[in-house]
Amino acid sequence: MRTQVLIIGGGPSGLLLGQLLHRAGIDNIVLERKTRDYVLSRIRAGVLEQGMVSLLTEAGVDKRLRAEGLAHDGAVIAHVGGTFRIDFAKHTGQPVMVYGQTEVTRDLYDARAACGAKTIFNVEDVSIDDADTDSPSVSFTVNGKPKQIACDYVAGCDGFHGVSRRTIPEDQRREFEKVYPFGWLGILSQTPPVSEELIYANSQRGFALCSMRNANLSRYYLQCSMADRVENWSDADFWEELRRRLPEEVADRLVIGRSIEKSIAPLRSFVTEPMQWGRLFLCGDAAHIVPPTGAKGLNTAASDVHYLYNGLKAFYADGDDSGLQQYSTKALARVWKAERFSWWFSQLMHRFPEQTEFDLRMQQAELDFLRSNDAAQLAMAQNYVGLPY
Ligand code: FAD
Ligand code: PHB
Repeated sequence: MRTQVLIIGGGPSGLLLGQLLHRAGIDNIVLERKTRDYVLSRIRAGVLEQGMVSLLTEAGVDKRLRAEGLAHDGAVIAHVGGTFRIDFAKHTGQPVMVYGQTEVTRDLYDARAACGAKTIFNVEDVSIDDADTDSPSVSFTVNGKPKQIACDYVAGCDGFHGVSRRTIPEDQRREFEKVYPFGWLGILSQTPPVSEELIYANSQRGFALCSMRNANLSRYYLQCSMADRVENWSDADFWEELRRRLPEEVADRLVIGRSIEKSIAPLRSFVTEPMQWGRLFLCGDAAHIVPPTGAKGLNTAASDVHYLYNGLKAFYADGDDSGLQQYSTKALARVWKAERFSWWFSQLMHRFPEQTEFDLRMQQAELDFLRSNDAAQLAMAQNYVGLPY
């Protein structure tokens, strides 16, 4: 078997890249370790930047997003000193779009199936061979049978635990990491959201976030200890703790119900450099992770896809490989800015185990500055809606 671009990973980065390439007439195959239903059962991102919305439009998968997505012109920050709003529309003229990663992925899978592009599920023992030569290939097993696909390029879109990053020899990559001493306990519940806009809360008991998927589907998060287990959090415990971390007038409005999903995610900042090795290109979580504060993970995956897609398109259209040569440099320049924003917003909003009274005063002073300073709000709004590609 042979294809032009072999994409490893059928998460949002791999599927978006595949759909864009397909529309540009570039043949591609997606290999996914799990099933479609498994991928769609993972509840993750909820906030899309305009850059990602434009890419989904270019990929021809924006119909449902435009009909069902919620455009948000601002977000609310609550802390012990009070509650204030960051006005995205006023500062940047742009909203963010609230539309779940699950729905983005579903739309992409549906489009892929409709156009007959090939996806192979349940692949095992994936190995990337000869990526540092002009004739790379990928071998794997499916239903116990060995397979091999030759290709021009490999796109490593297989997330943090995938094989792509590890294919780059250790002495040719450098990794940067910061692990935070807490996680996020998240629930999804079929209840109306407590607020029309997202609320990020820094309370004495730790961070909380009120988000949503639609008018009757809420997504809430609590900062929790990494030693915590989902089984130890009943729904009643979750709602009670959330109420305690929210401003009283918000807590009083909270509509509670049974959770339909509950999970704990660790918080980590991670970048690998470079994002290219020979004919292998890393995209999305395979190359970098951000803590979810600020909603940058999926959006940064999308900007990688933008650079890689344009590089491949120029190569196949007129043999110009300069975009591919510059891929890692361009992608990393934007990745590091998203890393900085997510790290900054995480530091600002969480309670840290080793935090001294001085550290707390610094947090309060910074929140107070952000509340009262237009330039600080402008910088926050620009980063939140997404820096230009
Ligand atoms: P993944 O989604 O990890 O997809 C990789 C795929 O590759 C998976 O389907 C996996 O099964 C497959 N795979 C792995 N190994 C192999 C292999 N060897 N062979 C074949 N396939 C393989 N981001 C935002 O922008 N906004 C948010 O609001 C936001 N909120 C988040 C909330 C939570 C709780 C979490 C956990 C994350 C959040 N993120 C958010 C981050 C976002 O979900 C990720 O950045 C995004 O999923 C990255 O997409 P990806 O396709 O690169 O990787
Ligand atoms: C979500 O809705 O899942 C979400 C929203 C904003 C974040 C993180 C997650 O910063």
